[in-house]
Amino acid sequence: MSQQVPSFNHVILLCRSGFEGECSAEIIDRAATIGVTGYCKTDKRSGVVVFTASKPATVMKLIETLSFATMIFARQWFAAIDEVKDLPVKDRVSSLAQAAGRFPRCKELWLETPDTNEGNSLSKLCKGLQKPLQLKLKSFGALRASGRYRLHMLFTAGDRAWVGMSLPGNDAPWLGGIPRLRFPKAAPSRSTLKLEEAWHWFLPADGWGEELKAGSWAVDLGAAPGGWTWQLVQRGLKVMAVDNGPMNNELMLTRQVEHHEADGFLFEPPRAVAWMVCDIADKPARVIHLMSTWLVNRWCRKSVFNLKLPMAKRYLEVCKLLDRLQENCDANGVKITWCAKQLYHDREEITVMVRLVD
Ligand SMILES: C[S@@+](CC[C@H](N)C(=O)[O-])C[C@H]1O[C@@H](n2cnc3c(N)ncnc32)[C@H](O)[C@@H]1O
Repeated sequence: MSQQVPSFNHVILLCRSGFEGECSAEIIDRAATIGVTGYCKTDKRSGVVVFTASKPATVMKLIETLSFATMIFARQWFAAIDEVKDLPVKDRVSSLAQAAGRFPRCKELWLETPDTNEGNSLSKLCKGLQKPLQLKLKSFGALRASGRYRLHMLFTAGDRAWVGMSLPGNDAPWLGGIPRLRFPKAAPSRSTLKLEEAWHWFLPADGWGEELKAGSWAVDLGAAPGGWTWQLVQRGLKVMAVDNGPMNNELMLTRQVEHHEADGFLFEPPRAVAWMVCDIADKPARVIHLMSTWLVNRWCRKSVFNLKLPMAKRYLEVCKLLDRLQENCDANGVKITWCAKQLYHDREEITVMVRLVD
């Protein structure tokens, strides 16, 4: 077998089904910032975008240099060779192992599928292939604990897969970019998972205790019935829950929650707080204005909020909105950092985290 490293011509990106256009616009735009050009191909509602670089040599530079954490619409990515097609149904393992045989050494193998009905129907196949593929790859040293990369095989059908690799630390640390979270039975609403997922994306895995300090105060705008407040209460925070709607009774009995029946757009905290979270579904421009007010006045140090996506030119509009937040803070001498992601639990929206840096 030749030792030549194969040609990684593509970057495969996974996104929410229906957002392939946004994901494509984003990767083309962001790749250009580091001098990498290319084009995207995608099928409608496939949840997969294939970015093909004009110069294949730039693909590894792209997935190693561009910060994955700054990508909004991509849930997962990896550099890939050309699609492996016509996999023999009776022996997919040999063909796939051969495809990955000349890759730089990888430390683990992830078998993934797009987040679509068709994709989900392939997950059983993935489960069945995981062990035999691992064994085969280990048998000729392609998979070793000391490997630098993560090996990905993304099945788009039973007989075809994208095979490639990502750099751990600059990819999503979950299969398919979806943290598997269990709905906590005691939580008052399913929305609770949105805030928990946001923390998984935006907070360092070993820093939750420091970031969400027990005893500190948070404001939850648009809090009812209390799914987000519940998350904050679980971490020991005290919460001003702002909503004209009713809050969950058990949550109120914890005595960690003050219910303020008020308009979230007019509410001013009696003192600065550690966190402000906001799950009010309103015009994104209005939400950005609200966030700017909180940050410029330093009413909170950190915030997680939702931005409903506009109907058209969604990537462009999101960039404009986030630029406006940055400009509002810059104009007032307030330093912030932010990141944004379309979470698994987000539908027609993205979730943003902002923090004051001084
Ligand atoms: C999606 S729900 C929030 C769910 C909540 N995060 C949870 O986890 O249970 C949106 C909430 O925003 C509230 N809301 C809408 N406009 C508001 C406003 N101007 N001020 C305060 N709350 C508002 C609604 O009453 C509703 O309870």
